[in-house]
Amino acid sequence: MGEILDGKALAAEVRAEVGRGVAALVESGGPRPGLTVVRVGNDPASEVYVRGKRTASEGAGIAAVERHLPETTTEGELLAILDELNADPAVHGVLVQLPLPEQIRSTVVLDRVSPAKDVDGFHPDNVGLLVQGRARFKPCTPHGVMRMLDAAKVDLAGKEAVVVGRSEIVGKPVALLLLERHATVTICHSRTRDLASVVRRADVVVAAVGRPEMVRGDWIRDGAVVVDVGINRLPTGKLVGDVEFAAAKERASLITPVPGGVGPMTIAMLLFNTLEAARAAHAGGPSEKTR
Ligand code: GUN
Repeated sequence: MGEILDGKALAAEVRAEVGRGVAALVESGGPRPGLTVVRVGNDPASEVYVRGKRTASEGAGIAAVERHLPETTTEGELLAILDELNADPAVHGVLVQLPLPEQIRSTVVLDRVSPAKDVDGFHPDNVGLLVQGRARFKPCTPHGVMRMLDAAKVDLAGKEAVVVGRSEIVGKPVALLLLERHATVTICHSRTRDLASVVRRADVVVAAVGRPEMVRGDWIRDGAVVVDVGINRLPTGKLVGDVEFAAAKERASLITPVPGGVGPMTIAMLLFNTLEAARAAHAGGPSEKTR
């Protein structure tokens, strides 16, 4: 039966580590890291996520500000605010919470965030650096997944890693990070033929499709490591991941729970990236390499 990979405890460690880094930066005459989260409209999940980001930032000594804009905000108005934040030396990290209302093109908006302040790691310059294995900011959720695997001392070299989901935010970047660690990586998606047989090969499974319990427990190979990025609310109100947890746990050697797995790590890595942005600004320019 699998051991639980406790993201909540590890995220608290990372937040404490960032808090010590913030104190050291300020102590050495550097700036207090500043993060601005821009939220447009009233998506209820976004409201909860942004509150979590702010509370965690403040706990680590990061000055966090939320810019909440009305649902009717135009693309031009949002771009003007980003230009202002890009030029503000007290702001080291800028994050535009997704999804955006439909009148706003998210690609245009994400392209406008200064790459040096793009703590989400979504700007094409930062995606390019990630592809080349010299990431400036690793996107927060994939970064959190890697940190969890590292904390559990999972050796990835030569292992079969199967990523279920090909999103820009999780699936694609996590596949690149696994590849950087010398795993043999397969990315599966809605057109993959016989998904079950691909997942059955995996030493490491990362599920990021956003469909409740889609990855069945009997697809998990004995002893595999299972990382579940999904957070799905069932009509009953219960939160479940993308993996059928109870059955998968019987086969896995290590498995992340939902909630309390990858979720808390995402916010912790945002704080990590914000500290890196402030350090780089203080050192006189963005660094290419984080960790
Ligand atoms: N919405 C859901 N996940 C994310 C994320 O990682 N970053 C941003 N900016 N918005 C999100």
